[in-house]
Amino acid sequence: MAKPIVSVLFVCLGNICRSPSAHGVFQQVLEKAGAADRVRVDSCGTGDFHIGKAPDQRAIAAARKRNIDIDSLRARQFEPADLKQFDYILVMDRHNLENIRDIWHRYGGTQPELFLGYGQSHDVDEVPDPYYGGEQGFERVLDLIEDASQGLLRDIRERHF
Ligand code: 4NP
Repeated sequence: MAKPIVSVLFVCLGNICRSPSAHGVFQQVLEKAGAADRVRVDSCGTGDFHIGKAPDQRAIAAARKRNIDIDSLRARQFEPADLKQFDYILVMDRHNLENIRDIWHRYGGTQPELFLGYGQSHDVDEVPDPYYGGEQGFERVLDLIEDASQGLLRDIRERHF
């Protein structure tokens, strides 16, 4: 397998709902596009409360309905070294953006950006936190992420391949 030439890190708060969903969805998008060996994907959270845990069962179930398997992912916390190791640091909401931007101001590296900046079909720029809501929230997360994943793949192709 060729060495990946681009790396993407998805970031949310807990790394058990939105960012593992993005991780799984974008990995599937890459596989379908025949580009999985050229892009490294990872995800993490700004918080430390779920380190080591599997994704939320509702996120696993929603992803499974779309033939995406995320149950082997385990939560980890964002670390400053990630800013040097990833080409794209894609956060889910403005709260995440503020947190990572504070770290970026101190350490430099890749500038964090809102993942939905790559979206095309929805009129929102944040992925809403589904943790305290119902199953529908997890479907909405996947819809937004799927759309932005297509735009992200396009950007990677234009700028790196
Ligand atoms: P995530 O969702 O940031 O999409 O993983 C959350 C998961 C857990 C909590 C908040 C958001 N929590 O407060 O424990």
